Amino acid sequence: MSKTTSTTSSLSFAHVPHPSPVSAEKRAELLKNPGFGRVFSDHMVTIRYHETKGWYDAKVEPRAPIPMDPAAAVLHYAQEIFEGLKAYRTADGGATLFRPLENARRFQQSAERLAMPILPENVFLEAVDQLVKIDRAWIPEGDGSLYIRPFMFANEIFLGVKPSSDYLFIVIASSVGAYFKTDAPAVSVWVSQDYTRAAPGGTGAAKCGGNYASSLQAQAEATRHGCDQVVFLDAVEQRWIEELGGMNIFFVFDDGSMITPPLGGTILPGITRNSLLTLAKDKGIKVSEERYSIDQWRKDAASGRLREAFACGTAAVVTPIGTVRSNDGEFRIGNGGSGAKTEELKAALVGIQRGRTADPHGWIHRVY
Ligand code: PLP
Ligand code: COI
Repeated sequence: MSKTTSTTSSLSFAHVPHPSPVSAEKRAELLKNPGFGRVFSDHMVTIRYHETKGWYDAKVEPRAPIPMDPAAAVLHYAQEIFEGLKAYRTADGGATLFRPLENARRFQQSAERLAMPILPENVFLEAVDQLVKIDRAWIPEGDGSLYIRPFMFANEIFLGVKPSSDYLFIVIASSVGAYFKTDAPAVSVWVSQDYTRAAPGGTGAAKCGGNYASSLQAQAEATRHGCDQVVFLDAVEQRWIEELGGMNIFFVFDDGSMITPPLGGTILPGITRNSLLTLAKDKGIKVSEERYSIDQWRKDAASGRLREAFACGTAAVVTPIGTVRSNDGEFRIGNGGSGAKTEELKAALVGIQRGRTADPHGWIHRVY
């Protein structure tokens, strides 16, 4: 096994290439229909942290199980954060990332909230670049992409409740197609009235595993009601729409205007959400960050004032919402399929992400 080293500002990455990577034939087979989050590339990046040493021991190495002590703090107190971003194959055979600096920054904000060490932006970006470069063959052709999952967890062997002294930062990559399995033109959502996702002062704005753990019962309820995703209402009044289990949400009205729930610490500040706000403004669409209640949503869908609604996120891209269900019954949005504004904004976003259109905001990061 050959071992080389590359350096980023203060940190050197040791390279340990996989001794027996997946064969090209097997990989081609896996990439035909990867689904979401089940097909993984050959390598991973690992970086360790200890409060006395700082960040150390950066490696690009074969993807493998990680040995863990059963008393590792993350297994007990869930001190863990993660990110999600995609690498795209370019027409000239290169690879790009969409706004990775925003993921690096959000990772820092999540770390801050969870009392974890701050990984320098350049180290986050270098770790992602290194993995995309070594596993470039895992970026699917066509509509697929390589979903990059950086994450960090508390690794101190200690059962006392306090911020860990030890952490492991890892980046893995998964070849993906569409997030939703459905062939329907739009997804259905279940409005959770029994569970909330995040309360003021909580961790709603952080991308931490705990937020997803506490969403699972509501997501299971959505599935039981035949819905693809759960929609959460605010924890205080149980009235204002916040976001979906793993996506932000936009509403489109009959006058062409759009709204999305405001960031206030209880929802994830989505990078897709932020990009769509910018793209909508570029197009002269009147768009605002405004509270919108579940009652108003129902009324506006019935009157026809609300024409479209869509979910957005790295995994979901832009996904139209056609049906809304809750304990109070069901309503349809528009014709139950996608709408013109949803498609227009999706095309604008995907065009930039895939390098098919100009990138006026400098969002594309070339890996090689
Ligand atoms: N909200 C939640 C709860 C999410 O998990 C995600 C996915 O990352 C988003 C919103 C959208 O964020 P982004 O557009 O940065 O992927
Ligand atoms: C993403 O879109 O990156 C997400 O994290 C959503 C979900 C897959 C957890």
